[in-house]
Amino acid sequence: TPVTEEVIIGEAGKSVVLMCRNVSERADEVDWFHGDPGAVPPLFSSNATLPEDARLSLVDNSSLHISVLRPQDGGNYTCKEVLNETVREHRVQLLVASGPSNLAVSISPAAALPNGTVYVDKRDTVMFSCTSNSHPEPTMGWTFQPPNSTPETFTEVNGTSTVYILQNLSLRFQGNYSCTARNPLSGRSETSTKELLVYYPPPSVPRCWAQTAQVGLMLQLFCNWPGGYPHPVLQWTEEERDLENSSWVVNATGTGDTHVETLSSSRLLHGKEFKCVGIHILKQGKVEPTCTVQISAPSLATEPLKTCFVGGTVSLTCQVMESNPPARISWLRNVSQPEVEIRPGGRYLVTQEGSVSNLTIQNCSHDADEGYYICKAENPAGLKEAYVSLTVKRLDIAAVTSSSLLETKVQFRSPLGEWRKAGGWKKEGRGSPVAFSVTFICPPAHRNQDSNDVLVLVDSDGEGEEEREEEEATGNSNVHRVTALVNGNSTQAGCGYHFTESKHLALEMHHCTGK
Ligand SMILES: *[C@@H]1O[C@H](CO)[C@@H](O)[C@H](O)[C@H]1NC(C)=O
Ligand SMILES: *[C@@H]1O[C@H](CO)[C@@H](O)[C@H](O)[C@H]1NC(C)=O
Ligand SMILES: *[C@@H]1O[C@H](CO)[C@@H](O)[C@H](O)[C@H]1NC(C)=O
Ligand SMILES: *[C@@H]1O[C@H](CO)[C@@H](O)[C@H](O)[C@H]1NC(C)=O
Ligand SMILES: *[C@@H]1O[C@H](CO)[C@@H](O)[C@H](O)[C@H]1NC(C)=O
Ligand SMILES: *[C@@H]1O[C@H](CO)[C@@H](O)[C@H](O)[C@H]1NC(C)=O
Ligand SMILES: *[C@@H]1O[C@H](CO)[C@@H](O)[C@H](O)[C@H]1NC(C)=O
Ligand SMILES: *[C@@H]1O[C@H](CO)[C@@H](O)[C@H](O)[C@H]1NC(C)=O
Ligand SMILES: *[C@@H]1O[C@H](CO)[C@@H](O)[C@H](O)[C@H]1NC(C)=O
Ligand SMILES: *[C@@H]1O[C@H](CO)[C@@H](O)[C@H](O)[C@H]1NC(C)=O
Repeated sequence: TPVTEEVIIGEAGKSVVLMCRNVSERADEVDWFHGDPGAVPPLFSSNATLPEDARLSLVDNSSLHISVLRPQDGGNYTCKEVLNETVREHRVQLLVASGPSNLAVSISPAAALPNGTVYVDKRDTVMFSCTSNSHPEPTMGWTFQPPNSTPETFTEVNGTSTVYILQNLSLRFQGNYSCTARNPLSGRSETSTKELLVYYPPPSVPRCWAQTAQVGLMLQLFCNWPGGYPHPVLQWTEEERDLENSSWVVNATGTGDTHVETLSSSRLLHGKEFKCVGIHILKQGKVEPTCTVQISAPSLATEPLKTCFVGGTVSLTCQVMESNPPARISWLRNVSQPEVEIRPGGRYLVTQEGSVSNLTIQNCSHDADEGYYICKAENPAGLKEAYVSLTVKRLDIAAVTSSSLLETKVQFRSPLGEWRKAGGWKKEGRGSPVAFSVTFICPPAHRNQDSNDVLVLVDSDGEGEEEREEEEATGNSNVHRVTALVNGNSTQAGCGYHFTESKHLALEMHHCTGK
């Protein structure tokens, strides 16, 4: 048997030429066999007419040309040369390679964007599979190319399919995934590339709130749904659309973690409910999460009547009961038209804690401060005003300078004259509560006043006048005896007591032992 001298590789569908090497130019006859000449009939002979198979032809009277190769054309061919009755044979092995073809790539679970890029859910286990037809078996591999980087091969097998599984995906898994199948015989290869994006939905639900714009009195509706990739689509609509009664037609969509819709202010906004729908590409087909915000104009609660003593301090309180967005609270004085907004500073202190605003007036003056105050609360849905009437009463202050309750020295500043303290404080009785008494002599100018003067002892540290204990005031007398019953330890008891007279006399004793 002749030895194989040559191996020729052909590809299915293409043509190939099998040479009959060293053939003599004067050869009488050249015959080709697909197999052993003894075992099979000649496939083609230079002496014969056209062969049965039209794909076969001779080149240079000796080489066999086969077009449109088929896999079954592969095998051992023998070329037989007859010259002067001597026969020479030699052998060519033909290998027919086919493919790769029908390369199929799938990434699942995944969905495709209009531009062909596929996206997966970060939380999923993703299977990358690739199949191909090839003879002989192809070498198949996946490569991954992150943006602006070089590709890296992450799996390679000899076989018609390759499967790779990825878990715990993150953004760094985004990029181009290519599957390549290569025919080891022909070296021909085919590649399919898919761009992959790793998406994830926002972890929670959208949050809505209303706010007043910095400039103007515009209503801003905020809808915030962070933490997703890509950004969600947020859509503001009116919850209950009443087109006939509403000048508000809100249907606005934005892309981003926060979507702000701005509306001009109107009383019609009161009671309106707006809804934000969060739409994320990974939650398509599911119930879209929403949040709503209801707009309400402010309403107010105030104490309409307040009293302050001359030289004293008073706080006017105003509470906004319902207001969305939160109202801006301001204090005004209606001494003139238009009303003047009170600016904090000087004797005015304006503080706000949550929805409660306090206007504190220090060193009350009858002329400057008595009158009406207006608490004004305003948001884009409305405006509310409430009046507070302030009465300023005369106040006499007894300044106590001693360091011990029993040695109290009382001084008076009073437009009515000097009050005098007759004697010192006397401790009365034993045990608890401890009683103290002190006697005052009222100034002559006061004597003709209403005779029902009452001296009231109040604990300025406590809740108003609760600790007031006992007073003794004789009608026409100018002598007032006041007894303080002090609960507990007498050394602490003197701290911050003051006496108030029901009409226009107040004695204040600022006294703290140990301080
Ligand atoms: C063909 O010829 C070459 C040189 O021309 C020679 O080396 C080789 O052995 C020959 N082959 C055969 C089968 O005669
Ligand atoms: C092929 O053979 C024929 C006759 O047998 C001859 O006329 C022709 O010249 C040959 N061709 C070549 C290229 O050798
Ligand atoms: C062709 O010849 C080689 C040895 O030269 C052998 O291994 C192979 O099996 C043969 N092929 C066929 C189809 O007979
Ligand atoms: C072939 O044989 C003939 C006679 O039989 C002879 O004349 C001729 O030279 C031979 N040719 C070769 C190439 O051997
Ligand atoms: C396809 O669309 C996505 C989303 O818009 C984009 O991020 C990506 O770059 C696009 N890819 C190509 C190849 O255009
Ligand atoms: C993926 O390949 C496409 C086409 O070559 C290219 O436009 C795109 O930028 C690539 N994407 C990445 C993330 O490299
Ligand atoms: C695939 O086959 C080729 C040739 O037989 C071999 O060199 C290579 O190592 C094989 N690769 C794998 C991954 O088995
Ligand atoms: C809101 O706008 C979107 C598109 O911008 C539209 O598809 C939808 O029908 C609108 N909804 C209403 C209630 O008008
Ligand atoms: C202030 O408000 C009170 C109560 O409404 C009103 O009687 C008074 O006339 C107002 N004063 C001014 C100056 O507007
Ligand atoms: C309080 O007001 C009076 C009169 O307006 C003024 O004389 C006095 O200095 C003020 N006291 C304080 C502590 O501001």
